[in-house]
Amino acid sequence: MKPLIIANWKMNPQSLTEAKELFELVKKGVKDVKKVEVVICPPFIYLPGLEKDSSLELGAQDCFWKESGPFTGAISVKMLKNLGCQFVIVGHSERRCHFRETDLTINKKIKAVLENGLRPILCVGEKEERGGKGGFSTVIKTQIEKGLKKIPSSQINDIVLAYEPVWAIGTGKACKPAQAKVINLFIRKIITKLYNRSIAEELPVLYGGSVNRENALGYLKESGMKGLLVGGASLKSEEFIGIVRDADNL
Ligand code: PGA
Repeated sequence: MKPLIIANWKMNPQSLTEAKELFELVKKGVKDVKKVEVVICPPFIYLPGLEKDSSLELGAQDCFWKESGPFTGAISVKMLKNLGCQFVIVGHSERRCHFRETDLTINKKIKAVLENGLRPILCVGEKEERGGKGGFSTVIKTQIEKGLKKIPSSQINDIVLAYEPVWAIGTGKACKPAQAKVINLFIRKIITKLYNRSIAEELPVLYGGSVNRENALGYLKESGMKGLLVGGASLKSEEFIGIVRDADNL
């Protein structure tokens, strides 16, 4: 599987014109990239205005688990599918924190994404740099076990996991590749227990949290990560293109 580099634009930019501009610049910059799969996750409302092509996929930053009905403000997975999305970020720490998402609602969303044939990107990560009480392991283990609850092994191939330590998101204080490697192995151990070793080996685990052009390759080379989830740096076209192209040249 090709490494996945995913841009999470969060609540940016402020107009469709700017979103189109950024998207087209990235599209041009990654046109000839062969060895990396690139996904852009813009705010929902820009999705219909962005024209994906063979070099760039579209993803959403969230979804609701119900198909339709009286759910004011919500967006269903089917709506996202109809707009050409292939991926949905689920359980980002900003959603867990500001929108009170729980492992239970995250699990429902993952199931809805899978049922519609899209690929969920399940985000997990500890809040404090040293993991707080009990270390990083309890938090990550619980988030994975509850997030993937009752998801059969037949559907697991479509799942992407993103390790995003909360303390590293938007802080400029990225996790060291050696530490990310420890957590990557730990995640694979949990998946082996829940499913089996071959599923754990195949499952793409990405790193996210203050990724920039300088540190990006470290996660792919040293930590064994199968890709990156890029926030702030994905809003700067040159930097994001640079990250993708460096990964393509690995
Ligand atoms: P950041 O965000 O790269 O700005 O730290 C990453 C993310 O939240 O996905």
